[in-house]
Amino acid sequence: MTELTVVVLAAGGGTRMKSKTPKVLHEVAGRSMVGHVLAAVRALGPTRVVTVVGHQRELVEPHVSGLLPDGLLAVQAEQLGTAHAVRMAVEAVGEVTGTVLVAYGDTPLLRAESLRALLDDHAAAGNAVTILSGVVSDPFGYGRIVRGGDGGVEAIVEEKDATDEQRSITEINSGILAFDATFLADALGRIGNDNAKGEFYLTDAIALARAGGRHVGARPVEDPFEIEGANDRAQLAALGKELNRRIVTGWMRDGVTVVDPATTWIDADAELAADVTLLPGVQLLGATKVDEDAVVGPDSTLKDCEVGAGAHVVRTHAELAVIGAGAEVGPFSYLRPGTVLGAGGKIGGFVETKNARIGDGAKVPHLSYVGDAEIGEGTNIGAGTIFANYDGVAKHRTRVGKHAKTGSNNTFVAPVTIGDGASTGGGTVVRGDVPPGALAVSAGPLRLIEGWAQRRRAGTKQAAAAEAASGAVGARTPGEHEASHNDSPEVGESAAGASES
Ligand code: UD1
Ligand code: CA
Repeated sequence: MTELTVVVLAAGGGTRMKSKTPKVLHEVAGRSMVGHVLAAVRALGPTRVVTVVGHQRELVEPHVSGLLPDGLLAVQAEQLGTAHAVRMAVEAVGEVTGTVLVAYGDTPLLRAESLRALLDDHAAAGNAVTILSGVVSDPFGYGRIVRGGDGGVEAIVEEKDATDEQRSITEINSGILAFDATFLADALGRIGNDNAKGEFYLTDAIALARAGGRHVGARPVEDPFEIEGANDRAQLAALGKELNRRIVTGWMRDGVTVVDPATTWIDADAELAADVTLLPGVQLLGATKVDEDAVVGPDSTLKDCEVGAGAHVVRTHAELAVIGAGAEVGPFSYLRPGTVLGAGGKIGGFVETKNARIGDGAKVPHLSYVGDAEIGEGTNIGAGTIFANYDGVAKHRTRVGKHAKTGSNNTFVAPVTIGDGASTGGGTVVRGDVPPGALAVSAGPLRLIEGWAQRRRAGTKQAAAAEAASGAVGARTPGEHEASHNDSPEVGESAAGASES
């Protein structure tokens, strides 16, 4: 096995991004640009990966180390050119043998397969240098591949140093180059900076190889997007859109129904099973996983979430949440980190959850906030319930047992425990524990002041309506009203005021 050293150049400034974030850390499809490149080179199983950092290295270094903990870093304090950058990498390694592959940190669509094909060509031909080239309609700005009469590569000429005739060449240098390591180490010591930019050009190695009688090859990449770098935000968006198109197409080929690919965004690290359906306006971000037969959308954003088989997630915003098999979420639900919804459970409209374990078949159907909570299987939480988890200083947990039925418009003042099979009445404020099977009621009896509207709102439509209705209903004593119109059903043993659905 010959050694393979991969050098990733990530020292440049990226001024056209006009950003406080270094260029290679800008993201497409949920990963930094350099993250995409490192993923592609790692798939080659190289002996080592050396990332050259310089500009804003206090930000780039920790990012790269996080992605590739056993990778090496080389510092290029001043950006004196691509040959100088590669020299810093080779010096950081000490001695290199075998093959050195040079790539740039800003080509997010680069695929391992294309690099492997380049390395295979390189090894088979015994070249000193093999170039991943590209044939493009607008070669402006790129180094041009100058081929000799036999088709072999004679040199790469940079835009600023090219003759008019050379500028018309449409085969360009992607910057991705495979080198015989021994040749490279020698060439790096001989490359000068006598050119239009006053930089040490790595591309000068080609002419040196030819002068030394070595062969140089170039292999045009099949898909020019793979070698394209993003230098500004417009190019970043264009590459992001193209990468997304590829990711979405890939999932459709794997059996995912995507109703509107143009409004569907799937990050590189998301995973989908066959027979998932994505409706228009869905973003599956980060390491989101969606299991078979689940339906997501329309208009939902899920970041680092798990969606179980057959679940339905409609108009939902969720992050670091787990949605069980066959569960229902939305519309207009907000699932914050630590939400775990059991199989067949429900989080309904205008419900916000955080750090909440909601058991199998348990339901929070309407208009509620569920924070720092445990809800047992089969329990139903009434409409408009607030889990009051914050006392102004610290957060506390609420535990609701299995098969409990809590009333509408409740407040659970944490820490509090509601037992298995317990009930609460409508409007209950639960400030203490409720034992299993108990009915908790905290609202007082309904108080009626008869004829109030007619007296206090005399002359209004309200008073007239009241007057007309009380005539129709006929005379009743206040006592009768209290018994028959009582809207606090919790005083009886029957209804708990829950809103089930
Ligand atoms: C380079 C190539 C050119 C090729 C083009 C493809 C050279 C001399 N030219 O030109 O043939 O067509 O890329 O995009 O190699 N970098 C460093 N340290 C430096 C200089 C650059 O790390 O001192 C990094 C940059 O961050 C960037 C990459 O190397 O990622 C390319 O550098 P850049 O200056 O953009 O080279 P180009 O002029 O585009
Ligand atoms: Ca460039």
